[in-house]
Amino acid sequence: MENEKVTMEKIASLAKRRGFIYQGSEIYGGLAGTWDYGPLGVALKKNIKDLWWKRFVEDRSDMYGVDAAILMNPKVWEAAGHVATFTDPLVECEKCKKRFRADHVEGKKCPGCGGLLGEERQFNMMFKTTIGAVEDASAVVYLRPETAQGMFVNFKNIVDSFHPRLPFGMGQIGKAFRNEITPRDFIFRTREFEQMEIEYFVKPDEWKQNFEYWREQMLGWMKDIGLRKEDIHELEVAPGDLAHYSKRTIDFEFDFPFGRKELYGLAYRTDFDLGSHQKESTVSLEYQDEAAKEKYVPHVIEPTFGLDRTVLAILCTSYDEEEVEGEIRSVLRLPTHLAPIKVAILPLSKKEELSEIAHPIFDTLKKEFVCQYDETQSIGKRYRRQDEIGTPYCITVDFETINDKAETVRDRDTMKQERIAIEKLPEYLREKLN
Ligand code: GAP
Repeated sequence: MENEKVTMEKIASLAKRRGFIYQGSEIYGGLAGTWDYGPLGVALKKNIKDLWWKRFVEDRSDMYGVDAAILMNPKVWEAAGHVATFTDPLVECEKCKKRFRADHVEGKKCPGCGGLLGEERQFNMMFKTTIGAVEDASAVVYLRPETAQGMFVNFKNIVDSFHPRLPFGMGQIGKAFRNEITPRDFIFRTREFEQMEIEYFVKPDEWKQNFEYWREQMLGWMKDIGLRKEDIHELEVAPGDLAHYSKRTIDFEFDFPFGRKELYGLAYRTDFDLGSHQKESTVSLEYQDEAAKEKYVPHVIEPTFGLDRTVLAILCTSYDEEEVEGEIRSVLRLPTHLAPIKVAILPLSKKEELSEIAHPIFDTLKKEFVCQYDETQSIGKRYRRQDEIGTPYCITVDFETINDKAETVRDRDTMKQERIAIEKLPEYLREKLN
């Protein structure tokens, strides 16, 4: 990332201070690999999810949305290959007994105490729990490590209910859980996270053009959420590094402050999943292609988007600092359509003659835009706060407003102030924000 003002410490500190993201179970000292989203984090995440859902599900006639259960029959994970192969290489320090992901350790010495590391072994990342009142081996179920399987097991339901023609897809947003050996880098690698995934079913011999199509779609999405082209890098995953289900994968990597790391993935999953579920469940998952008068198991292109990594990439891209009158101003230059709060209404003082004007402005604008009313602290502090949460416009009602029926609109990015008549305000903001 070119912007050297951005560090993870600054992002995490702003996220906590301003109510975006807190450590999970913080008052108990936290729980490794878990984070809680506060009011502004929830709002930012919701804006991202709504945009994704509208773009990839609602606005398309070839996409079907689902929300499948997190707990699934354990046979799903056997058929999907996760019981056997969803593992990371683990090493344990012989001295302090701490465990690390083998590929995260440099020099093969314990990063904690410098002790010798033992033999590498495979560690399955699925969280186990038990279902029902008996806690024996037959009651073991897993928390899903990807949302994808919830779509594959509903393939037949969608075909039976909607009779779609190929190619068509399913989309889902939801939680996934992985018992990461070393969760780290704030919300980048966590044990509980959200995915936005698409399984796109295609004719076997049409996978290449569909792969290319989704590659373009993913790049378009990244542009629209404000990520800079120069921070995105496509990595063709080497055959030896492919996931067990994939014949081809592109990782979209992003220049995070801690290095170039995977943001999203695009995989050609062949007929691996539908084929395996067909075999394990003995239910036919073949598709009757009426036009070609053929029956076959469709192949799958899977664009997958980690939601928490999206939030992090957006925060890193938006964060900026500049010197203003001898002081450092930090500002989140969020794309306006993603900003949690669009307009802040800030009466200069708490005096009644100002709130009498400011309240009706708030009541009018909140019908159209997410607004915040704030009359606490000095105006300087309130601007600072709104800058740090990425609010595009601040409206200041001052004593002149009583006479001229106008107020000051301050632009987050330029800090320029304009005097706008109260009655013109909705139209002015509509033009700026929509
Ligand atoms: N269904 C395919 C699949 O799950 P993946 O590459 O293992 O593929 C997809 O995960 C995306 O989920 C990643 O590109 C990343 O954005 C996100 N992701 C994976 N593991 C994560 C973790 N431990 N913490 C946060 N996000 C994660």
